[in-house]
Amino acid sequence: MAIHELPINTQLTEDIVIDTSKDAVVIDGVSKIFKKPRPLLRWPGKRTTGEEEKREIRAIDNVTLTVKWREIIGILGANGSGKSTLIRMLSTLLIPDTGTLQIFGYDVVKDERMVQRLINRVSVEASFFKKLSPMENLIYAARLYNMSSKEARTNIRTILLRLGIKEDRIKAPLENMSRGMQQKVAIARAFLTAPIVLLLDEPTTGLDPRSKVDVQNFVNELRDQHNATILITTHDMDEADALCDRVAIIDQGRIVALGTTDELKQGVTQLMGRTTLVSMNEVFMHYTASQIITEEDIQRYGSWEKAFEAIEAQREEEKE
Ligand SMILES: Nc1ncnc2c1ncn2[C@@H]1O[C@H](COP(=O)(O)OP(=O)(O)OP(=O)(O)O)[C@@H](O)[C@H]1O
Ligand SMILES: [Mg+2]
Repeated sequence: MAIHELPINTQLTEDIVIDTSKDAVVIDGVSKIFKKPRPLLRWPGKRTTGEEEKREIRAIDNVTLTVKWREIIGILGANGSGKSTLIRMLSTLLIPDTGTLQIFGYDVVKDERMVQRLINRVSVEASFFKKLSPMENLIYAARLYNMSSKEARTNIRTILLRLGIKEDRIKAPLENMSRGMQQKVAIARAFLTAPIVLLLDEPTTGLDPRSKVDVQNFVNELRDQHNATILITTHDMDEADALCDRVAIIDQGRIVALGTTDELKQGVTQLMGRTTLVSMNEVFMHYTASQIITEEDIQRYGSWEKAFEAIEAQREEEKE
């Protein structure tokens, strides 16, 4: 289908006026700490105070990041590095412990309602009525956005077909669909209305290569034709390279690298003293080695590889 035929309803957003001279997303000094209760070791005969020792997890640690209008920014990081926590705070599902998050000048805590109108979040744990079909589920979603069922029906069908959902599946119960197909329905829901800021938490994880490209094309179209600003988390380095204007690498809740994929690749190539440009995979490995490998480390250990090994070994030791 030609790009101009992409059916996206803009009714929802027509009455919202955003100031595009403002940054789309401003994250300023944000931290989020989770407290996990840990049962105390009980020694025989020893009385406990009844109070549980709390273990703190600093899921997001003093993050500052600005995303411009119409930018596609990738958030990369190992499992548990804090990506989803950041996305949840931006979508008003979690409240930050410190700092502020703003969407076009609206604060996610103080202007929660307005922020909810501006953002749209897709995550793998999307909730649906499993007994209903994709069409029924999406019509339900469209109603929440005041879209007429007739108009919604046409849009939904086109989007689902484009994402590779077969005609006969559109009206069959969702519970019989594969995980990847259900994920596509979740993605279709986000594309049904033209969101101003789209928050995509691993939208392509688990999708086949063709479907990944379909989703990436959708993301590009939303930016090119509907001026959407997009934050996307992914574990696919090629996807980050192909899709994102800039990427932020996050490690243990902190941003450890930020820039275009080219800038990051060039930086790491230089650090490692290589003659050919490193891949995004190598960039990722470098920055998520818990601790960034510095010039000093390289001198101390003789080479980047040796420094990397030493730091990894140290990290393993710390874990034990
Ligand atoms: N509701 C919660 N309660 C307690 N701890 C949490 C909660 N949500 C997340 N965490 C912890 O915060 C840290 C960051 O988790 P988060 O889900 O943000 O990581 P992620 O980068 O999205 O990982 P993944 O790549 O696996 O999706 C982890 O240590 C996680 O265990
Ligand atoms: Mg996550």
